[in-house]
Amino acid sequence: MLLRFAPMKGIVLAGGTATRLYPLTIVTNKHLLPIYDRPMIYYPIETLASMGIREVMVVVGGKSVGDVVELLGDGSHFGLDLTYRYQSGALGIAQAIGLARDFVGGDAFCCVLGDNILRGPSLADVAAEFAASESAAGTMLYRVPDPERFGVAELDSDGRVIGFEEKPSRPKSDLIPIGVYFLRPDAFGVIERLAPSGRGEFEITDVLNHYIPDGRLFTRIYEGQWADAGTVPSLLRAAELARDDDAAGRLAPPVPRPTA
Ligand code: DAU
Repeated sequence: MLLRFAPMKGIVLAGGTATRLYPLTIVTNKHLLPIYDRPMIYYPIETLASMGIREVMVVVGGKSVGDVVELLGDGSHFGLDLTYRYQSGALGIAQAIGLARDFVGGDAFCCVLGDNILRGPSLADVAAEFAASESAAGTMLYRVPDPERFGVAELDSDGRVIGFEEKPSRPKSDLIPIGVYFLRPDAFGVIERLAPSGRGEFEITDVLNHYIPDGRLFTRIYEGQWADAGTVPSLLRAAELARDDDAAGRLAPPVPRPTA
């Protein structure tokens, strides 16, 4: 089901410093690195496009910002209407989302992290379910063997999420929130009041945590295959997921870049 009834906007985050990928990212933006047959940032863009979202803001920062803009242009070749916002510094995912406040206006929105590779069914139905719900924030959960690298969910005895911890040394589960966030404009007020974490970032997990006590957090298990591409092994795994999909006939060719 596409989102014909409810306007939902999209955000892709393509800032950050990507030091975990050095030397690959010393002189370029991580989101331009190849994942199999296309630049990394094509995947989150395609994730939003497959949900029926049309208006997307790309938050750019770090290296090679002009190249990101040159690659994606106005987004029309993806069927999107793209705009850009510059993030100076890398103060965290929540701070980057906060930069999209005017763009979002009064609409619900979906933010996908620029290094998240989702290979599976479209999230159009999940987005529609969120839009129609009373929930204020939502994310997709995924089981991983190395949860300490991510945000980690803590669950109660009924399997409900009761909190997220960012990169805990002792993870309380192997379920992590992947980099897909469903939010409403209310989140901007929450972001404004956040304090930076111990690592000096404004954490998205703190935004999600805000909505747990009064039951306004929406979570679903992601049923496809997922990888972030923020470390060398996960960059390779992301490429393998795309290659396997290609072999199975499930990877559409990358959209051609329009000629001037
Ligand atoms: O991939 C899922 C994980 O992503 C979640 O489980 C974590 O809760 C979440 O914090 C995040 O963790 P990472 O450590 O992987 O985030 P990273 O710093 O690598 O940034 C993820 C993306 O967001 C990346 O594509 C760059 C972008 N970004 C990041 C920061 C810190 C920005 O655009 N601006 C920023 O300031």
